[in-house]
Amino acid sequence: MPKPNSTIIRFENITKEFGPIKAVENLNLEIHEGEIIGLVGPNGAGKTTSIKMLANILRPTRGKILVKDDRGQLQDIATEPKNLLKSGFLIDIPSFYEGLTAYELLKYFAKLQKYPDGNLEERIDEILKMVELVEWKHQKVKIYSKGMKQKLGLAQAIIHDPDIIVLDEPQTGLDPKARILVREILKDLQSEAKTIFLSSHMLYEISEVCDKIAIIDEGKLMEFGSIPELEKKLRSQEIRCELLAPLELEHLSTSLKELEEKLSPYLENAEAYTDLGHHILYDPFERNLKIQYDGKPESQNLILETLIKETDLKIKAFFTPKTTLLEKIYTSMISKKDSIKDIDKY
Ligand SMILES: Nc1ncnc2c1ncn2[C@@H]1O[C@H](COP(=O)(O)OP(=O)(O)OP(=O)(O)O)[C@@H](O)[C@H]1O
Ligand SMILES: [Mg+2]
Repeated sequence: MPKPNSTIIRFENITKEFGPIKAVENLNLEIHEGEIIGLVGPNGAGKTTSIKMLANILRPTRGKILVKDDRGQLQDIATEPKNLLKSGFLIDIPSFYEGLTAYELLKYFAKLQKYPDGNLEERIDEILKMVELVEWKHQKVKIYSKGMKQKLGLAQAIIHDPDIIVLDEPQTGLDPKARILVREILKDLQSEAKTIFLSSHMLYEISEVCDKIAIIDEGKLMEFGSIPELEKKLRSQEIRCELLAPLELEHLSTSLKELEEKLSPYLENAEAYTDLGHHILYDPFERNLKIQYDGKPESQNLILETLIKETDLKIKAFFTPKTTLLEKIYTSMISKKDSIKDIDKY
């Protein structure tokens, strides 16, 4: 018998075109059993399209998607595969039959997915408890709030105890408490060895739960890896320096050039903000200098020392920005082209 593969989902050269629009372009992605993978990207990046193809709602223009079956073999989902591992999906904002109750809907979905009748009542109660909708069990969905519908969407995706759970923006419309609840549910599901593939704009949330992040932009996979792996790719880091008095804008270019020369030993191996190799930017609104340095802890200290001793800048605060690591990665990889548009160029 062939050896079971720990790959559970594989996107192979997937392209999806809508007329002239390439929603997804040559996407290759390999997901292993038990992983939580986050798909991150701006609006229109191709997240929902990718997920819809995995759900077999959309057919790829080119390429194939393979999913593991109960014998450990990968099968092309476009070829009417048999006995694939069970999947559960939450895609877009769920639209339910609003005249039904949560109980009726979950029962319907569970039966559709052939969940055994014997345990069904218990299972519905367990899931409603998990998503904190027990009191709403016999209420019609039409009176649910957006967040409650979203939680019911998650319940529907997992009611039949699937091995693979695919969630498109599961935290949309949820308040902070509900977002924490979803994060806890995802962690519980992971501890049950489920494989989870989710998309999100909420970078913080995704970095908290995911083992690996796939960053997509304009249909293309920009990066795929664990957070430490992505961090390594970034190499350099940013320091911000808030000034007491603003810099004179008419001399900005010269001042920044001089500053760049003084700090050059610590900037050399850092990523630049611009194609011209600028490592220092000035934001006149925040009165902030932004410095991309080589990321070494000792450099931080030496940069501060140089700024104090060798310039007449009046420094109010010196800090590393509080954006999450992932936001930094995301900004650096996706928004490079427009990340400096609101900042004075020199
Ligand atoms: N049915 C469709 N017909 C035509 N174009 C489509 C269709 N569905 C998606 N697109 C286009 O494909 C691209 C990717 O859309 P998609 O919905 O996958 O993005 P997304 O990453 O999910 O964005 P969002 O964060 O806004 O949900 C967009 O340019 C979108 O306009
Ligand atoms: Mg989407």
